[in-house]
Amino acid sequence: MSKREERPELNGTLDPDDWGQMEELSVQMVRDMFYFMRTIRERPVWIQPTEKAKTAIGLSGFGKAPSVQDSYENFKENILPFVKGSGHGAYWSWVEGGGTPLGMMGEMLAAGMNSNSNNGDHMAMYVDQEVARWLRDALQLDASGTVSFVSGGSMANLSALTVARNEFLGKDTRTKGVWSGAPLIIYTSVETHSCVQKSIEVLGIGNEHVQYVPVDAKYRMDVAALRKQIEQDKEAGFRPWCVAANCGTVKTGAIDPLKEIAQVCKEFEMWFHVDGAFGAFARLLPEYDEQVAGLELADSVAFDLHKWMYIPYELACVYVKKSELLKESFGIESDYLTVHDRGLAAGPEPLSNLGLEMSRGFRSLKVWFSIQEHGLEGYTAMIRKNIAQAAYLASLIKAERDLELLAEVNLNLVCFRYNPADRALDNDTLNKMNKELVMRLHERGNVAPSYTVLDGKYAIRAAMVNHRSEQRDFDRLMVEVLNLGKEQG
Ligand SMILES: Cc1ncc(COP(=O)(O)O)c(C=O)c1O
Repeated sequence: MSKREERPELNGTLDPDDWGQMEELSVQMVRDMFYFMRTIRERPVWIQPTEKAKTAIGLSGFGKAPSVQDSYENFKENILPFVKGSGHGAYWSWVEGGGTPLGMMGEMLAAGMNSNSNNGDHMAMYVDQEVARWLRDALQLDASGTVSFVSGGSMANLSALTVARNEFLGKDTRTKGVWSGAPLIIYTSVETHSCVQKSIEVLGIGNEHVQYVPVDAKYRMDVAALRKQIEQDKEAGFRPWCVAANCGTVKTGAIDPLKEIAQVCKEFEMWFHVDGAFGAFARLLPEYDEQVAGLELADSVAFDLHKWMYIPYELACVYVKKSELLKESFGIESDYLTVHDRGLAAGPEPLSNLGLEMSRGFRSLKVWFSIQEHGLEGYTAMIRKNIAQAAYLASLIKAERDLELLAEVNLNLVCFRYNPADRALDNDTLNKMNKELVMRLHERGNVAPSYTVLDGKYAIRAAMVNHRSEQRDFDRLMVEVLNLGKEQG
């Protein structure tokens, strides 16, 4: 074959010109991140991003920095110091796990391999299956079911409710849509996370068909009220379709009476879904057996690994008990995705046939490493620690006359407020005072709880899904709240 003319426009990559230099910088990045994690307690939980930092990250012109080293310096100076703070032991905002060093490395290795883990005959597919099986078994969910990975709890709830809708309406829903017949009704407690409502809107069911069921004094769904509402709705010609129960509500960690709800669903031939975003992990603790009983009866469960499994963002799971329903809802034959008998295109079912998403990272690798690092016992111990910490914090609050515990602590969430005993302040004043207190706490940067509103009362809320928290962090929270409370008069 005669030598062809070399055409430069047909060659070239985005790889570094100097691999050695890039490698050195990358090793430095890893070292810096390890240092960052190891010393995280020496810095404030949160520092407000400065105007200078916001300007410095600008990608003006063609966006190219003088060197990769310059970009990295910019990152260290203007991005890293203003991180959200979830890795700090005194961080209990929203429900955010702290991540781990090995989890971080799992992310890096996955990105390095960069395998789109949707389909094909390669190890990511098998690791995915193995981790999914392990999680299903750890949560003692029925072995007939399938766990699949999604980005977060919102996606997990949406995925499950899509399957639930299609199963209820029948196979031709995917062809005909949801426009005929009486409205479907979903029942969920007033305490349910807003992502359930969002799912219902996205699914074309309409949020006026969400029946919010009242709760008891412990914020658990009132099953008698649920039953009554279903009967009324049936009578009125609606189609009661699904109950979305909570295993750990976002505000207080309440666990709905799952077993009783499962019974109601069975009786009325409805889908039983559980949002167990974080609380499903209480299943690991035998002392929660009674409360969590019924989780295994669910037709679908949503649970997050970036919350109470401390896996770095992002990763959540959706479990569907009748595995075949996933494919019935999401499977599409595409010429470009058929599974072949041999070669790279062989391997397991493409995951896009079992969920909404197609392209995906090798998400399960960080979990595969983490499971082997800590084992089931490690996770069980850490979750138990967080629950004990919540009880400890509640005991500190109860011992202070100027603090008021706003909800009984059952799991890992504590809601309270500053309420000076010697002043009879009205609720509006207390709400304003406590909101101001939270903002000041954050600005001081020593502790970072978040907030919610319970029965009209603004609450300081601490969610324990942090493996780095220690007893001293809660002692500090008390000192800070009491001092700032007094400062406010
Ligand atoms: C009970 C509950 N459900 C759903 C979600 C939403 O999960 P994600 O933020 O992963 O989408 C949360 C988030 O905190 C939650 O606490």
